[in-house]
Amino acid sequence: MAQRDVGHVAVVVGAGASRGLGGALARRFAREGLHTFVAGRTQERLDALVGEIEAEGGQATAVVTDTTQSRDVIRLLDRALDEGGSLDLVAYNAGNNRFSGLLDMDDDFFEELWRLCCFGGFLVGRESVRRMLPQGSGSILFTGATASIRARPPFTAFASAKAALRGVVHGMAREFGKQGIHVGHVIVDGMIDGDQLNTRFPQFKQEKGENGMLDIDAIADAFWSLHVQHPSAWTLELDVRPYKEQF
Ligand SMILES: NC(=O)c1ccc[n+]([C@@H]2O[C@H](COP(=O)([O-])OP(=O)(O)OC[C@H]3O[C@@H](n4cnc5c(N)ncnc54)[C@H](OP(=O)(O)O)[C@@H]3O)[C@@H](O)[C@H]2O)c1
Repeated sequence: MAQRDVGHVAVVVGAGASRGLGGALARRFAREGLHTFVAGRTQERLDALVGEIEAEGGQATAVVTDTTQSRDVIRLLDRALDEGGSLDLVAYNAGNNRFSGLLDMDDDFFEELWRLCCFGGFLVGRESVRRMLPQGSGSILFTGATASIRARPPFTAFASAKAALRGVVHGMAREFGKQGIHVGHVIVDGMIDGDQLNTRFPQFKQEKGENGMLDIDAIADAFWSLHVQHPSAWTLELDVRPYKEQF
């Protein structure tokens, strides 16, 4: 474990369930010594996650945030830095899937998915860059999905929003890389072995078999590996999938 230094801060936007990717990212960053701010809409779930991190000896703070609201995102990042320190790492993980056939899809469904999967990522990206530019360093990493690069019904709205987020990420990487900010995209190409799917579709885990779903801590390893890359060899995009996934 790295030396603890309370001056180094991470933020995970889109955290709640302990057994979710957001939870795993927060635990991992805190284990590496970063004071980790966890952001989601549900105080109780964030408090439970903070409790877990603190029980392991890490430092974490819960900030209730709706990432689709500019004022919430600004408040979150201001809070993360209000004792000074440096914003080392931000992960944008919000973007839970919803599906619908196109003809049944109303306007709000389409727009809300875009707000969550893309617009929230833009807000978090913009506010993070604003705070990292004076430092001349920092990583901003985004969670992608199969849908980031492939649209299939009934996930058309989700795919359009995830692909749009990918566009934001690629543009940001090219705009800010030379100023020391590492922007990265992790395409999660498969089902995550976490609460999102295991509570709603418990049959998937059995159907997929051993290591047929992505382990949340293994994905968190991939995020961390991007953050610690040497600046002479940065990755913009990484894909991760179970070894037996068709692709
Ligand atoms: N699950 C999969 O199989 C899978 C596969 C490929 C890619 N992904 C990607 O992985 C990411 C999610 O990981 P996960 O599925 O393991 O879920 P997770 O990390 O357990 O959950 C994400 C969290 O985002 C929070 N959230 C939702 N809307 C929000 C908002 N408006 N503002 C702030 N926070 C919000 C939710 O908490 P609240 O509801 O309490 O706000 C939730 O706890 C997404 O980007 C998704 O596209 C998932």
